[in-house]
Amino acid sequence: MSSKNIVILGTGGTIAGTASRACDNVGYTAAQLTIDALVAAIPGLVSGGGILVEQLAQLDSKDMDFDLMRRLALRAHEFLTRSDVAGVVVTHGTDTIEETAFFLQSVLGPTKPIVLTCAMRPASSLQADGPQNMLDAVTVARNDGANGVTVVCAGMVHGAVEVQKMHTYKLDAFSSGDVGPVGYVEEGRLRLIRPWTENTGPSSGILKKLMAWGGGDFWPEVEIVLSHAGAGGSTVAAIAASGVKGIVVAGTGNGTVHEKLEQALLDARTAGVRIVRSTRCANGRVMSRPGDVFEAREGLSPVKARIALMLDLLATGA
Ligand code: SIN
Repeated sequence: MSSKNIVILGTGGTIAGTASRACDNVGYTAAQLTIDALVAAIPGLVSGGGILVEQLAQLDSKDMDFDLMRRLALRAHEFLTRSDVAGVVVTHGTDTIEETAFFLQSVLGPTKPIVLTCAMRPASSLQADGPQNMLDAVTVARNDGANGVTVVCAGMVHGAVEVQKMHTYKLDAFSSGDVGPVGYVEEGRLRLIRPWTENTGPSSGILKKLMAWGGGDFWPEVEIVLSHAGAGGSTVAAIAASGVKGIVVAGTGNGTVHEKLEQALLDARTAGVRIVRSTRCANGRVMSRPGDVFEAREGLSPVKARIALMLDLLATGA
């Protein structure tokens, strides 16, 4: 276990939420308490030493955007380059935590741990889950050998690529699908199920581009559409006409697309829009075959395929 500092960056979410009644786990307002207050409420966390705290944002993560993800990536990177810092913990809402985790992993590929954590119940709840999740996240961040971006919730450590919110209400709302979690945190100890993936740090010019941004339009616009029974092409036609750079189609099963939707996507591609296929299935991966009409993002959910496509477009200057 590292004795170096762990930095905790607060961004809001249910973990910082409050309700007017302690028995209300649904009718609360997210992002009310500061990260200082959350950390101070956990016995022994600060007094044990080695904890640095910073409020980076305060929002309900349904409203997360890429400018904030960019700011978070740069701040986490800044801390991780310090020799006195072993890892970064980020408190975040559960609703888009998997997107932020995937973004940070894609952009930073950190050789030290970035551990995102959250809560399904507000801080005012009779049985709030946030404090234990935060302690578990610190345990993971302090672990020797830990690296890359993970999400810690309900005693489970999920990898940034696989993690997905699967439940609207249960405390263990996340799953890593058939890959399974990286490990478990039990009574302050990490039990690894599979070895850490060795990360090699930020690659490509993306980090430089994020640092160099001076305002204005930056993110290539990418939308998501869903294939379903009775799907048509009008949504895609409207999106393409609005000038998007990319469309991710959440296909049925192995990423198949309704014939009418497919025609609209082909037309959009002819007009210069990049089309990528994912699946609306929660588990499994799209398996590419020679001659596929649209490229597939194997193993990425539609929201993560969207981030991957945005970063691709950004890298190529599209
Ligand atoms: C949020 O995502 O910020 C609100 C919901 C949650 O954290 O569970």
